[in-house]
Amino acid sequence: MAHRATFVRMQDSTREDWQAISGEFVHFAGGLPERVMAHLKLLEGDYGGFPVDRYTHSLQTATRALRDGRDDEYVVCALLHDIGDTLGAFNHPDIAAAILQPFVSEENHWMVKHHGIFQGHYFFHHIGLDRDLREQFRTHPHFDRTAEFCELYDNPAFDPKGETLPIGEFEPMLRRLMAQPRQSIYKKALTAEAA
Ligand SMILES: [Fe+2]
Ligand SMILES: [Fe+2]
Repeated sequence: MAHRATFVRMQDSTREDWQAISGEFVHFAGGLPERVMAHLKLLEGDYGGFPVDRYTHSLQTATRALRDGRDDEYVVCALLHDIGDTLGAFNHPDIAAAILQPFVSEENHWMVKHHGIFQGHYFFHHIGLDRDLREQFRTHPHFDRTAEFCELYDNPAFDPKGETLPIGEFEPMLRRLMAQPRQSIYKKALTAEAA
């Protein structure tokens, strides 16, 4: 059985406690790609009235980005851009952006976080919203990148006959990307732990 700390208030924890906890965390963090893939799979069978289920849409978006020669980081962003649909019914892009933030560039993070508003250009006018809501970001340095993501990959990925690679195609790049955080308030502690 794994060693456990014994404190009941965190303020009473000791360095030894944290050595035990840190050891467990390294193991736990290594399972992140599995948990992410398992959560993405929750979208399987979830059509929500769409022509394809949300899992297929996710895989198809990533497939389109991969076939277009995008790098691994971009393809993983495409794969996970809608992973927040299960828990973030009213703000799904924020969930994906938060999961990806430690591992991706600022421009890819911004793209994922704002894709909902940009994707709205293709349908907001049908549901009583402003399809030009994205125009508030017209002068933002990542406007074009985000508009392009929606135009080329997200927007056309509802095709029941469209190429849809299986998750196994994306698993290695997901594992590589999540092997080490680029930014995290815990990064310094993690680096010391690994040393
Ligand atoms: Fe979305
Ligand atoms: Fe999408």
